[in-house]
Amino acid sequence: MAFANLLIEKRGRVAMLTINRPDKLNALNIPTRNEILAALDELEKDDEVRVVVVTGAGEKAFIAGADINEFAGMTAVAQRAVMKGRRAFDAVEDFPKPVIAMINGFALGGGCELALACDLRIASSKAKFGQPEIKLGIIPGGGGTQRLTRLVGEGKAMELILTGDMISADEAERLGLVNMVVAPEELEAKTMEMANKIAEMSPVALAMAKAAVKNAGRLDMRAGLDAEVDLFALCFSSADKEEGVRAFIEKRKPEFKGR
Ligand code: COA
Repeated sequence: MAFANLLIEKRGRVAMLTINRPDKLNALNIPTRNEILAALDELEKDDEVRVVVVTGAGEKAFIAGADINEFAGMTAVAQRAVMKGRRAFDAVEDFPKPVIAMINGFALGGGCELALACDLRIASSKAKFGQPEIKLGIIPGGGGTQRLTRLVGEGKAMELILTGDMISADEAERLGLVNMVVAPEELEAKTMEMANKIAEMSPVALAMAKAAVKNAGRLDMRAGLDAEVDLFALCFSSADKEEGVRAFIEKRKPEFKGR
């Protein structure tokens, strides 16, 4: 499928999904959010794709937020319909394959929220993070109040959301908001290194692992532990589990097929 505001490039088992509105700092307008949903649908069905990397086009921005131009004159009812279920963000979180945010610049508002919905975040040392919605007289609406709070704790999340201040990549790493900060010229190589490493694992186990970890933010401890046992047991129904165990015993590299 061809997209107006996205680029999709397959590199072996890794799909690079680039938000491509660099002249607008990749701001997420409604068509772009709909395209993200359509692209994820396509990438989910594609068995060759085992990991997705999300990034922004150009030197300057990952994503500078929702497209503010669309907010002018928009009513509450219309906005609620647009954001219903925060669909693009939830689709990333619920995507059954790992999604890595490769954060090349500004990750603000919906851009920070999209990164938060990803499973891993790798940032250029030039990246900047923030939830500046408060400065527009609104609040985060793409999951920021919940995902940021779970990731960095209430104190820092509250500070970022109430002040709208931006923080550096190094500060984001200190807070646990990103997994790794690298030099801008190394961003792609380091991200692909991690993506390729993960892409070698069993897709079945990756999906189970993602679901099990996500439960930590959704369920209480006992329910999360119970769900973990079920997902762990489910791995034993896969051919990949047989392959992984046999490969260890035979002292060779496993060849996971995703079955
Ligand atoms: N929505 C719509 N357009 C946006 C945008 C957004 N969130 N962020 C940037 N743009 C557009 C600018 O309007 C400008 O377009 P123009 O050239 O047609 O005037 C272009 O992208 C470049 O941005 P500019 O502001 O000129 O770059 P800068 O380097 O001076 O500032 C930022 C960069 C990120 C600090 C600034 O663009 C900004 O504050 N953006 C909004 C961030 C925000 O509040 N996001 C949350 C939205 S809920």
